[in-house]
Order: sequence, then C-alpha cells, then structure tokens
Amino acid sequence: MCGIVGYVGRSPAAPVLLDGLRRLEYRGYDSAGLAVMDGEGGFEVRKRSGRLARLCELLASRPVEGSCGISHTRWATHGEATDANAHPHLDAGGRLALVHNGVIENHQAIKRRLEGRGHVFWSQTDSEVLAHLVGETYDAGAATDPRERLAAALRESLRQVSGTYGVVAMHADAPGFLVGARLGSPLVVGLGKGENFLASDVGAVVSHTSSAIYLHDRDLVLLSEDGFTVERLDGAAASYEVSEVDFAPEDAERGDFPHFMLKEIFEQPVSIGNAFRGRLDEDHASAVLGGLGLTPRELRDVDRIVLCGCGTAAHAAMVGEYLIEHLARIPTEIEFASEFRYRNSPLDRHTLVFVLSQSGETIDTLAALREAQRKGHRVLGIVNTVGSTIARESDGGSYLYCGPEIGVAATKSFTSQVTVLALLALLLGRMRHLSVDEGRRFLTAVRELPAKVEQILAQSDAVAEIARKHLGALGMLFLGRQFNYPTALEGALKMKEISYIFASGHAAAELKHGIIALVSEDVPSVFVMPMDSVYEKNLSTVEEIRARKGPVVAVATEGSPEIEALAEDVIWIPETHECLTPLLASVPLQLLAYHFAVARGCDVDKPRNLAKSVTVE
Ligand code: G6P
Repeated sequence: MCGIVGYVGRSPAAPVLLDGLRRLEYRGYDSAGLAVMDGEGGFEVRKRSGRLARLCELLASRPVEGSCGISHTRWATHGEATDANAHPHLDAGGRLALVHNGVIENHQAIKRRLEGRGHVFWSQTDSEVLAHLVGETYDAGAATDPRERLAAALRESLRQVSGTYGVVAMHADAPGFLVGARLGSPLVVGLGKGENFLASDVGAVVSHTSSAIYLHDRDLVLLSEDGFTVERLDGAAASYEVSEVDFAPEDAERGDFPHFMLKEIFEQPVSIGNAFRGRLDEDHASAVLGGLGLTPRELRDVDRIVLCGCGTAAHAAMVGEYLIEHLARIPTEIEFASEFRYRNSPLDRHTLVFVLSQSGETIDTLAALREAQRKGHRVLGIVNTVGSTIARESDGGSYLYCGPEIGVAATKSFTSQVTVLALLALLLGRMRHLSVDEGRRFLTAVRELPAKVEQILAQSDAVAEIARKHLGALGMLFLGRQFNYPTALEGALKMKEISYIFASGHAAAELKHGIIALVSEDVPSVFVMPMDSVYEKNLSTVEEIRARKGPVVAVATEGSPEIEALAEDVIWIPETHECLTPLLASVPLQLLAYHFAVARGCDVDKPRNLAKSVTVE
C-alpha cells in the first residue's frame, strides 16, 4: 500500500525511480510523483494523479536532472487522488521533500499546532503534516552538518507522531543524502556500487542490486552514494544483516501474457509443484515441513489450531480448516486477522497459531502475529515473500516459493497456500489417525496436481466463451459445499474485485435460507460441485435453481453426465482426492473472473480502489 523508492548515486535518478515505481505500482496507483536534486542546492518535484504513465508524460515534457531523488506511488488514505495530494510533500519553506507510506494518526492535532505557528497546507494528507513537522524541526536544529541535522529532525519528529510509517526525506541543504525510517510499513535498503537505494519492496531495486537490508521497525537509515548507517530511532546501535536477494528481475515481468493475472494463473502447475517439492515423505506417507521447527512430540501435543489471514489468504485458511479437521481431527478455526488482533481470543498452551500472507506485510496479519506472540504463543507463518516482516517475525513456518505475485487479485498464492496447508494436514494426520494407505493415496494425488491443473488451463478459451455469454449478468452467486465452500467464497472475491459486479459466495445448501431470493435469469450461479460426498445433494440444489430459471455454470468432475444435462455451462476438472478438489476447482473460477473482467474492459491487474499489499489498517 503506497510504494516508495529512493536513489542516491551517479546515474540519472529519474529513470531508476520510475523503473522502481513501475515495479511497485501494485502497491497503489492513485497517483505518482518524484523529487530529484538538481545539484545546485535545490530540487525539482513532478507529481500527477492517476497512473504512473501520467507522471512519465509529465516528465517527458518537463524532465528533471540529478542523481539523487525520492519517489512514491500512492494508494489514497487521507484525501482524494489529486495532484496536490500526490507525494512527495514539501515542508513550509520548500527545502525538504518527503515520501510516506502509512498513516499518521495524530496528524490533525499536529496540523493544528503547526497552523497556529503560521504553516499553510496545500493538501489533505497526513503526510504533508509530517513534511512540515520535519522541516520545522530541521530549521530549529542545532547541528551544523545538514545531514546530521536532517537525521535528527526526522528522529525528533517521529517521536511526536503516532501511527505507521515507511518514510524517506531529503533536504536541499544536504545534496546526495537521504534519510529513511520505518514503523509498521516496510522499507528495504538496496546496496550497490557507488549507488544505494531505498524501497518499500526489494522487487523495486533487484534490477540494480541483489544486496539488501530489510530494516526493522524503529530503524533509521542514513544513505549516501558511498555509504550507509543504520541506527535505532532512539539513537541506540542497530543490528542488521545484509541479505543476498534470490529474485530474478524477469520473474516480475509479464512476458507474452496480456496481464500479470493470466501469467500467474498459468504458472500454477509450477507454483503448486514448488509448494510441495522436497516436502513429500514417501517412506512414511507423510510430509516434511522442517521450517515449523517443532519436534514430533510438540506436534502431537497440538490440540487446537488457529489460522489467521486477510482476503484470499483467509479463504485459503478456511480450506485449511476443512483439511486439518478432516485429516488430522484437530479442531481448527480461521480468524480474519483484523478481528483476531482486537479480540481477546482464548488461546491455550496447546493451541498452534498460523498466520498466512502472500506479501508478508499485511498490517492486520502482522498485528495478529504480534498479539499472539505477546500472549506467549509461538506463531508460525505461511508466507511467500522471503525477508518480509511477517516472515522475519514469525517463529518458523513455511515459504510458498511461488515467485513474485504482481496481479492485485491473488491467484497462485492461493493454491500454494492451500497446498502447504494440505501437507500440514497430512503431517498432523499421519501422527494421529491417518493410515499409511490413506497417506499414500493423498501423496499420489498431490503429485498429480500440476498435470491436472495443466488440463484445466487448456480450457481457458472455453471458459472465456462462457464468461462472454454471461456478460449481461447483474450479479453472480458462487456456491459450494464442504471443502469447496471456501472455494466459492474465493471465486466470488475474484469476480467482484476485478470485474466490479456484485458476487457473493455461499455454502450451497444455505441457498434455500434466503439467498434463493436472488436467483433470476440475470443472476447466474457458479456452482462448484466436483464428484464428492455431497455431489448428489448439490445436484438437488442445481434443480432448485433451474426451477427458478437461474442459469448455472457448473465446475464439475469429468464424467458427471447428470450435470451436463442440468447446467447451462460446465467447466470440467479432472478427478482428484476429495480434500484436494479446491486446488483444481479454484483455477476455472480464476479464469472465469479474468475473462469476464477483460470482456468488460476492466484493468484486471490494477482493479479500482485496491492495492496488493495492505500496510494500513
Ligand atoms: C489485499 C489484496 C488481496 C490479498 C490480501 C491479503 O486485500 O488485495 O488480494 O488476499 O490483501 O494479502 P496477503 O499479502 O497478506 O496475502
């Protein structure tokens, strides 16, 4: 949510900043801006509401020159997406520029104080208030060295604010120098030769360097072209580690696909394979999840599991609840991280808490993790982004290894999360009631998943046809039962977030308790109904929908002749273990949402109002 890039070096700053912003645009795309030092004791600012392309147009007509600068791509929190609200923001004297990700919660009180001292504000943002505060503190500073003075001003100002921030500032008095800090919003230092970087996400700088420092909360960093210092905000010495980033810049490119979302849907045979590779224990018909760091005895002692996440990660967690309870018979609950963090949820000694997050930066999920840890619990993470805050702060866990996910609508991270949870369920199950035979059958089904997902992807054109047929839909219902109730929720989320039509997911049998009132010729029901223990029940529900003239798009197992006669459209999935059907059934739903949104002319990779990594509450 909001992306920051800072550069100090010997190359022209603007192209580096723009390339970084392009890679961070998934974090927000309401406006973009940059400020570049001109080498003559000043800096130039360019900013524009709307997509990054608009800023590029502005720069083409009014270029900026210099080799030190800061930039920002915004997801609006305070104030609309206007030019004035775009970052960077300046202080009262126009000598300091600042970019900010997060929320300054006490900005109103600080603003009133500053206005009382004659400050005039041009934007409605909390970030401009911070810029003025740092600028005023700088002007009143005692240090003669402007770099030292700027660092002291940021430190002193951040002491006065409550809220969250990833922030980078520069001052005209201190050419070739940037200062940054973080609390609750990510900030990474990229270390180059004769150049250094700051960014919200390492993906913004990997085309320049693979050496990075992931800052901790309350770290302050001072950066010039040939050096850096990391300190704690309270002035104490900081400990940090320089990491080698395992991230190929081309992984974050679209290639020949028209959208990242489609590319990521098509990557699933590989990404699901990456989630289970090296984790299948053929000898014991079980799974190996070494990163959990729990002994077999500790795993056996677990008598309750809580799974926390937001959005798609919460839906994956819900599949996990069904899987773990079915295979391991351990009571499992899913909690939205945003609820968990403020609830006094009873957790006893044998409860195991997992947090799930693709980005590893979602603030509610991070807060849930910290809340559980504060209560003395070990919290494990199921995370994609290596080095992310959740990955670093959790007490162990499993990475997804699904590669960068850029499309705002999560796809491959969902199936990877479910795959890891399936392995967890198998592992816990094999320590309890699950027989060797059942374990083997499950492992075989897991190994076959990538090839089966390939078969589904081969129907992409047919799914596009179905999507076009239902373009006039006023809304859509997504239905499923048991393991596929969460699949239905996820299918509905995909549809609404990228196509902007109303869609809702339901446990299929709940239809008759109210939802059936919505069924009409203009409201198709997308029904996930593989050949499983509730297939017959689902057939009856389809009959009920058809009796009321509701069109049905069924996602069904190959060789289910009854459904062909009943449903208006059928998308076939191969047969698999009942527990794993969500992994196959979710893929056609992703394709359906994708093709539907494309046919409606929506920007599927950057849906309106959304951002991929939600680092504000
Ligand atoms: C945002 C995204 C969703 C995502 C959710 C959780 O809302 O738009 O696609 O599922 O955050 O993200 P995480 O990175 O924690 O999995």
